[in-house]
Amino acid sequence: MRFYIHTMGCQMNEYDSVKMAGLLEQAGHEQVATPEDADATIINTCHIREKSEHKVASLVGTFAELKRRRPDYVVGITGCVAQGVGKELLAKSPVLDFAIGSTELAKVPAVVEGLRAHTLAKVLADDVDRDPQTGKRNREALHYPFIAPDILPQRSTVSAFITVIKGCDKMCTFCVVPYTRGMEVSRATDEILAEGRAHIAHGARELVLLGQNVNGFRASKTEKPDFAGLLYKVGALEGLKRLRYTTSHPRHFDEPLARAFAEIPALCPYLHLPVQSGSDAVLDAMNRSYTAGDYKTKIDLARRFAPNLAVSTDLIVGFPGETDADFAATMRLVEEVGFESAFVFKYSPRPGTPAALLESQVPEGVKAERMTALLKLCDDLQWTTVRRYEGQSVEVLVEGPARDHASRWFGRTPDNRPVIFEGAANGGAGTGATPDTVDLTGMLVDVTIVKATPHALTGAVVAGGAPVLARAA
Ligand code: 5AD
Ligand code: SF4
Repeated sequence: MRFYIHTMGCQMNEYDSVKMAGLLEQAGHEQVATPEDADATIINTCHIREKSEHKVASLVGTFAELKRRRPDYVVGITGCVAQGVGKELLAKSPVLDFAIGSTELAKVPAVVEGLRAHTLAKVLADDVDRDPQTGKRNREALHYPFIAPDILPQRSTVSAFITVIKGCDKMCTFCVVPYTRGMEVSRATDEILAEGRAHIAHGARELVLLGQNVNGFRASKTEKPDFAGLLYKVGALEGLKRLRYTTSHPRHFDEPLARAFAEIPALCPYLHLPVQSGSDAVLDAMNRSYTAGDYKTKIDLARRFAPNLAVSTDLIVGFPGETDADFAATMRLVEEVGFESAFVFKYSPRPGTPAALLESQVPEGVKAERMTALLKLCDDLQWTTVRRYEGQSVEVLVEGPARDHASRWFGRTPDNRPVIFEGAANGGAGTGATPDTVDLTGMLVDVTIVKATPHALTGAVVAGGAPVLARAA
């Protein structure tokens, strides 16, 4: 059976998709690049913001024609939308064959096979988090197992994700994650290291440790969070060139984590630390457990150990009760910290979360105005910071040929900026290597940046390719 996976949403979902592909491949199935080439399509969904149900429903609807032509074709959804409203979507859509929540991905191969063989009809698998008596969500029961580290696809990407902790128990009042992904459960250190080694053996050079709150990681249930301890262990894996992690919560960002930037050579000077708002009143109503001042102190601490640290963040505008003064505080904080990049979201009431019940909802028009102003500020700041790359030489980890440019390569700087560049042949400068002649994938190369925009840096490999390639071997 050939399968296609469409991934929506966050990096946790990308990771789950890789795991699902691994499970299906282990069961003898083959991953393909388009739905047309497949016998089954799985849409791995995200529920964090508004309209996700509609997006999923309309995407599922686009398979109606394919299913009419090929009645055995299987279409299913997995992940957070499946967990939340899978039952409703299954009842509504004649096209949809199964809905499996984030907690039960291990069931995917058996379900797809059963549907193909007509031994199963429509399948809903989200009961794990419901109390059988009341039918209500039981968050404690969401402790689904991690999928074993040896379930990997045949090849790893240059940059590979590893989930180290799943779920979240921070209970921010706007967020649906604690309800769809359950409480925090850390993964066993040995399993993480084994998965890291397997990825490196399969061609990965960079590992990105993932979790809704990676720095809530605990080596065991009875120990205090010690994500820094884990970083030192993963950072020591042989063959690893770069290490990153995302996302962290400011609450657990402490001195050992800041120090790790200085002491772990592979750890990139990049930190994604969502602040959400610059107003203490809003942060309190969000249940974030820090003030804007605490946040700035943490960033200062990190920069003491990593002077070139690039900091990115998430911001929400229009949280219930947010006044003009609160919003002005957010604008101020953004300028003071000087974020390298920021994801700005309009607050969206998520059913079942405390903030959705607040009466002080901010009108759509005000949210939109604040969003525009904040985006403009972030954009201006980005143009200022990004300009400094022009004329500089930066170290790039090459992820592969650039998608839209036949003779160019794609990679990232240590601070996570995308770079598109012309290659040079192994024999020396300017001999014009193309993706067909020398494979730079997985190598560290020095690139001189010619043009810098917030979306990408463009440049060319520094003259004298041979030593660069030798160093990367
Ligand atoms: N409305 C708007 N943004 C949200 N996020 C999470 N929940 C909501 C919501 N209800 C944003 C937060 C979080 C990011 C992943 O998504 O900024 O950090
Ligand atoms: Fe959601 Fe807050 Fe947990 Fe992040 S820390 S996943 S925003 S509840």
